[in-house]
Amino acid sequence: MSDPSTKEQRDIQQELTLLRKEVSYHNQRYHQEDSPEITDDQFDQLFNRLLQLEAKFPELVTPDSPSQRVGASPLSTLEKVVHATPMLSLEKVNDEKELRGFEERIIKRLSSSANLTFHCEPKIDGLAVSLRYKNRQLVQAATRGNGSVGEDITHNVKTINDIPLQLPDSAPDGDLEVRGEIYMSRSGFDLMNSQLASQGVKTFVNPRNAAAGTIRQLDARITAKRPLKFFSYGLGDSGFAHLSSALKKLENWGFPLNPLVKLCDDSAACLHYIHELLVQRDQLDYEIDGVVIKVDSLATQRLLGFNARTPRWAIAFKFPAEEVVTVINSVEFQVGRTGIVTPVARLQPVFVGGVTVSNATLHNMDEINRLQIQLGDKIILRRAGDVIPKIIAVAPDNKNGNPESIIPPTACPSCGGLVIKDTESVYLRCYQGMACPAQLIQSVLHFAGRAAMDIDGLGSKLVEQLVESGLLKGLPDLYKLELDDLMVLERMGKKSSENLLEAIALSKTRGLANFIFALGIPEVGEATAIALAKHFGSLIGLQKASTEILLEIEDIGAVVAQRIVDYFSSSKNQELLQQFQSVGVQPVPPVVLSPSKAVLGGQTWVLTGTLESMERNQAKTLLEALGAKVSGSVSAKTSVVVAGPGAGSKLDKANDLGITILNEEALRGLFKEHGLIS
Ligand code: IVH
Repeated sequence: MSDPSTKEQRDIQQELTLLRKEVSYHNQRYHQEDSPEITDDQFDQLFNRLLQLEAKFPELVTPDSPSQRVGASPLSTLEKVVHATPMLSLEKVNDEKELRGFEERIIKRLSSSANLTFHCEPKIDGLAVSLRYKNRQLVQAATRGNGSVGEDITHNVKTINDIPLQLPDSAPDGDLEVRGEIYMSRSGFDLMNSQLASQGVKTFVNPRNAAAGTIRQLDARITAKRPLKFFSYGLGDSGFAHLSSALKKLENWGFPLNPLVKLCDDSAACLHYIHELLVQRDQLDYEIDGVVIKVDSLATQRLLGFNARTPRWAIAFKFPAEEVVTVINSVEFQVGRTGIVTPVARLQPVFVGGVTVSNATLHNMDEINRLQIQLGDKIILRRAGDVIPKIIAVAPDNKNGNPESIIPPTACPSCGGLVIKDTESVYLRCYQGMACPAQLIQSVLHFAGRAAMDIDGLGSKLVEQLVESGLLKGLPDLYKLELDDLMVLERMGKKSSENLLEAIALSKTRGLANFIFALGIPEVGEATAIALAKHFGSLIGLQKASTEILLEIEDIGAVVAQRIVDYFSSSKNQELLQQFQSVGVQPVPPVVLSPSKAVLGGQTWVLTGTLESMERNQAKTLLEALGAKVSGSVSAKTSVVVAGPGAGSKLDKANDLGITILNEEALRGLFKEHGLIS
């Protein structure tokens, strides 16, 4: 053993302290914050120096050194651990009535509701872990297993930076057990999966599977590279009176406590908490599958005791599952407005994320091949919040008796034309344009849409009939329709036909931006259409524009500029515009206000929350057309805040500062008043 002189020992001690600090800091920057400050090589140099020094002076190794977080060599198996007190599961409730039942049972047992307070916590979708500390040092970590016997995962848990290896002096000296949930953040999961994909390694299906697959690793060096995190939610016999104060103590000792935990006085308050959490669910950087509600008083917990497998003092209120397993019955190929042929899976209907889903897009053949999906397969379907349902993987227990490959079509399912996959794209495409009924139907629906020509009453069933009957062969034919044409169609009486003709006639003088958007020029969305209308003021100017001129417009890049030039240089499109003109379509140029007339000149506006009837970009462009500056943050200089559903801190700040707050309806009113929208 080395025998350093006192001075040398002091120097080494100092260097080691510094090295540990630096390594921990850079570990945090790399793993937790995803913003490393030094290169991997520089990190390795620091870490290796630490390992070298500790190898030379083993008596100076401290239990909380970062070197203690990564085990040396892989284990051959995970040892069994018998839990001192079983790790129980929770009774589940699904609705308000069952939640009230839980409260009533407790009150009945206690014969009183006095001093009853509930500790509400997000139910983290991860894996339960038991951490044992002796003399403030982490000595063992174990999985839940079957509740009585788990597996020793100390080597892996030591790599998780959220979990303290050594507790401060304020923690008790003897035995201590902390329980909580190991999970993977959504952002950590996404980053890890993209890294695995770029290395050609199989990716994980979701953060929970990734955490589960990682925590039982035999090689802790692999675990160390995975972004696992931890929230504590309980501790063994603590001597505290309340769970809430015990958890606060844990936080003081360095254990992460979920910031959203809250005390609630009764089931009504718990329900309010549940609703609030459901709204936030999709914005959180970790997955939750419900709320855990526990009696806060530990004495009351003891009084209530346990049923066979669950405590009487806690329940899990389950949120609707966001991931379920169902079966793919068939795959149909649908043709969109631009001719892209998309595979759509017809599913055995299933309840997920709060709705029943029976179809899901598979996007393209590459996606089908990536997922290795066959007909009859059991798949995992995900629908979180309001997002479109997505097939994320073939289910792990997929046992398809009769697998059948999904064959891409060679002919368009709508017009029978050739379907081709361009070399540089992943999509199959039909190139028949308006000669393909499916593309024509979708183009008419887009043309008639609210942000486009806003033709009221032109729904999909009607458009299908108009195309099938041959009355519509192209968009301008809309303006040639007559009362007799419409009245013979299904579900069309005289009045509805007259109304439709009136709506079509009205659309002839829609705004120029609406018309540009309605044309469906590739890459030209609502915001770009508004910018083009504002810049050129007429269709003629736009038709003649070169890419150089288009590039001068803010927010228009090279790809969009080229698409616009290509569109207007096609003789077919020039003919289309001629036809629109001859049937009397005369888009109205936008009102261009001189700076002196700019009604909102000198004002700063902020948009926050969701706008439901228009894109945020459109609202921004229109506000700017009225002379306002549109900013992203609220300050004393803000003139008006437009707040929609989901508005949060910006709205609070505006209220605090006494700033005028408008809703979307008022904003639309302003735009209408100035002729910017109809
Ligand atoms: S308390 C006896 N609190 O949910 C009470 N559990 O079915 C034990 N979970 O296995 C658990 N978040 O893995 C509790 N805030 C939380 C939780 C939580 C997630 C998990 C835990 C447990 C399961 C209970």
